[in-house]
Amino acid sequence: MTAPVSSAPRAPVDVPLVLERCRAVVRPALSEAVGRMHPWVGEMAAYSFGWCEVGGASTAASGGKGVRQALAVLGAEATGAAGRAGVPAAVAVELVHTFSLLHDDIMDGDPVRRRRPAVWKAYGTGPAVLAGDGLFAQAVETLAAAGADASAMRMLSVALGDLVAGQADDLLFAARPWTGPERVRPAEYRTMAERKTGALLGCAVALGALLGGAPPPVVAALDRAGRRLGLAFQAVDDVLGIWGDPEVTGKPVHGDLREGKKTLPVLAALGSPSSEARRLASLLTSGADPREAAALIERAGGRAAALHEARGHLGAAEAALADVSPRGTAGDELRALSAFLVRREL
Ligand code: IPE
Ligand code: MG
Ligand code: MG
Repeated sequence: MTAPVSSAPRAPVDVPLVLERCRAVVRPALSEAVGRMHPWVGEMAAYSFGWCEVGGASTAASGGKGVRQALAVLGAEATGAAGRAGVPAAVAVELVHTFSLLHDDIMDGDPVRRRRPAVWKAYGTGPAVLAGDGLFAQAVETLAAAGADASAMRMLSVALGDLVAGQADDLLFAARPWTGPERVRPAEYRTMAERKTGALLGCAVALGALLGGAPPPVVAALDRAGRRLGLAFQAVDDVLGIWGDPEVTGKPVHGDLREGKKTLPVLAALGSPSSEARRLASLLTSGADPREAAALIERAGGRAAALHEARGHLGAAEAALADVSPRGTAGDELRALSAFLVRREL
């Protein structure tokens, strides 16, 4: 693909509006997928999307921004197809994302998601596991019913495998010590985060482009861009997990610290040659007061290091995107959405 010759200034992108437009494009097909589910399982799915309350009464709670579905729609549009071409990809990745959150909240013991009781708290753990399975099944069904070929099915299954591997490492890391030879190294963290978060973002934008008929090198570059965006996003999410306003994050304050999560700001702080790092190590090992730990992490440079790393990954994602010269308005929107995801806290 060639870059546009004229570079007439374009209007700045209103990212929330773009997200809203993409949600509207995808919503009928997403509702159809939920409608195929067993009614009880479908209610739990609808609850997760913010469409209903427990019991099924309609509501308009926050069901998330719909970042992955937007990436799939824009992936198709920015490589020259109609946004509609990316809709089955958008539905599949949104269903997989929601499935992963339902199960993740059980794994992490997190009772709150998007300011509402997590599905396992609202409906019970067994039902929440089942709802996750139901969402997963419909993701596969959506792609298959759209006539997706083996390479598209494969793209989704690779992302799913990565997601499971990333979650496995995330859980295993929590049991590792903070210091000493068994400590978690930043490189291990990056592999975990790319799988846990990056794989599905890469899949979203690449699968949208693939269904829109983009050639393999373009699809591969978009996957790389999405993965780096995921790394940036996770680094920012880790920062918000410690210092974010619970009103904004929808999650309890210091949750990650209480759970002993090996997040990037903590690992970076522990790796710094400072007296704060040594004090932090002994505080964490002895069952830290999360507020004091958060202050030490900040003083040891952990917050700044995580945000610096996020900026680096965003730059790499932008470079991978530039390689495919995403087209027109959708190209601008894709770039703006990437920056928006990461600049929440930069
Ligand atoms: C969730 O990871 C990523 C998934 C694969 C579901 P986290 O546990 O770090 O994310 P939050 O903070 O609960 O959203
Ligand atoms: Mg979690
Ligand atoms: Mg988790």
